[in-house]
Amino acid sequence: MRMQDALGGGGEQAVEKQKTSGKMTARERIVSILDENSFHEYDLFVEHAGKDFDMDKKYLPGDGVVTGTGTINGWPVCIFAQDFTVAGGSLGYMHAKKICKIMDHAMKLKVPLIGINDSGGARIQEGVNSLAGYGEIFYRNTIASGVIPQISVILGPCAGGAVYSPALTDFVFVVENISKMFITGPEVIKAVLGEEISMEDLGGAKVHASISGNAHFFSKSEKECFEQIKQLVSYIPWNNEKKAEPFLPKAPRTRQYKIDQIFPSNPLEPYDVRNIIKAIVDDSEFFEIQNMYAENIVIGFARINGDSVGFVANQPMVLAGVLDVDSSDKAARFIRYCDAFNIPLVSLVDLPGYLPGIDQEHMGVIRHGAKVLYAYSEATVPKITVILRKAYGGGYIAMCSNHLRADFVFAWPTAEIAVMGPEGAANIIFRNEIKSAENPEEMRKKKISEYKKKFANPYVAAAYGYVDAVIEPAETRNFVMHAMKIAANKRDSRPNKKHGIPPF
Ligand code: HXC
Repeated sequence: MRMQDALGGGGEQAVEKQKTSGKMTARERIVSILDENSFHEYDLFVEHAGKDFDMDKKYLPGDGVVTGTGTINGWPVCIFAQDFTVAGGSLGYMHAKKICKIMDHAMKLKVPLIGINDSGGARIQEGVNSLAGYGEIFYRNTIASGVIPQISVILGPCAGGAVYSPALTDFVFVVENISKMFITGPEVIKAVLGEEISMEDLGGAKVHASISGNAHFFSKSEKECFEQIKQLVSYIPWNNEKKAEPFLPKAPRTRQYKIDQIFPSNPLEPYDVRNIIKAIVDDSEFFEIQNMYAENIVIGFARINGDSVGFVANQPMVLAGVLDVDSSDKAARFIRYCDAFNIPLVSLVDLPGYLPGIDQEHMGVIRHGAKVLYAYSEATVPKITVILRKAYGGGYIAMCSNHLRADFVFAWPTAEIAVMGPEGAANIIFRNEIKSAENPEEMRKKKISEYKKKFANPYVAAAYGYVDAVIEPAETRNFVMHAMKIAANKRDSRPNKKHGIPPF
């Protein structure tokens, strides 16, 4: 009876409400993510500690959170799921204690932690004790950062403290029409600022997947979301002392993805760099992260010869692949993730540089752009760079150049490595000759072509040893595979320090 009551959550009515709003219950969610029959629940009989506002008369099963351990693809994980049917999944003192206990477990056992968030935030009736609970969770999130993978799933309206813990974790998953995240909801915004907005427009799944960048994975249903989680877990190691589990090597599907058909012969034509990645990696499987946000840079996991690898690639289809405030943030964080978890980095370069403009300057493109320089320089995992086409100015340096300690830099014959594009360069350095020429337009063309011949190729950089090899595009997979093999046991160190001061 006691067991039944505890497993019943907030009761039939509340469970029915949860289901009619298209949501699974906390336990249903957990067993859908984990391998069949692998879930072991703990602390089922924990009771809440609230005394005020008649809380002592209330029974909150499990204090609104389900915690335990299980496996995904046979690999161990610790997991918790907030139960919205019990006091709106709000976080009281014992609720927080349960989460902290499973977090401590994950740290001690060095296994990934998955948190399913469906909560109205700090339990208002418990006052400072619920705030203390959040503080304890945030502290643990921070200490665990870079030690064990931390995955957050937002499956309900999450407010206040309920969104800060996910923000401190590595990956945030959201589901259309179900996930909402905000510090303060529409009602508070209306009261304080007089602005009106719906919950969906303020902090719905699409908003966080495409505008704020708070979410890394977007899906249309909880089921699809759980499949994404299983996929993600397959690419990452259990902890920072391990490497991701290798898979059986597979060749790319080269019938579908041929580099010479994907990469345009006209240097001004855009292409989808994701297809280049697919032409290089095992089974042409690319697991993209944040695919709706700052699309001018592409990040994600794939495998080469069975081993996990993180890709950072400029996307010529969007804003010519420039680095700007958001794409710098996106790339830098991912680089640090791969570095923390021993995942080699492959960077594909084709960009005209950092994005100029008043907006960008005022939004701090200097500070945000510097994050990419910092993250690549700091990273000690194997770093392999392939320059496909443009590598101009700061973009050349930032995209894991030799100077930021790439282990191998390869360039296709189409690579153009220069301070800026030939047109811009010719206009500046040959300004007087062009102006005073009998036919300025003809002279401009001549000078552009002269500049192109001199600098817009990979051979000047190769002559200085900044490019290790000029390779045919079709050889890219072989060169990257070889580089990964050679660098597999790389040990690189940085000077002893408490920590650096990255341009956060
Ligand atoms: C106590 C809460 C609660 C909370 C919801 N409930 N949030 N109880 N503390 N924070 C309870 C409701 O009273 C209700 O109980 C049940 O959960 C379901 O909530 P509903 O409002 O009926 O659900 P819904 O209409 O879906 O709205 C969900 C919601 C809304 C948007 C989350 O409940 C809401 O706005 N809650 C408050 C959000 C908030 O401001 N949280 C505090 C943040 S401050 P009954 O008994 O009626 O079923 C914070 C501080 C930490 O977190 C900051 C750290 C940096």
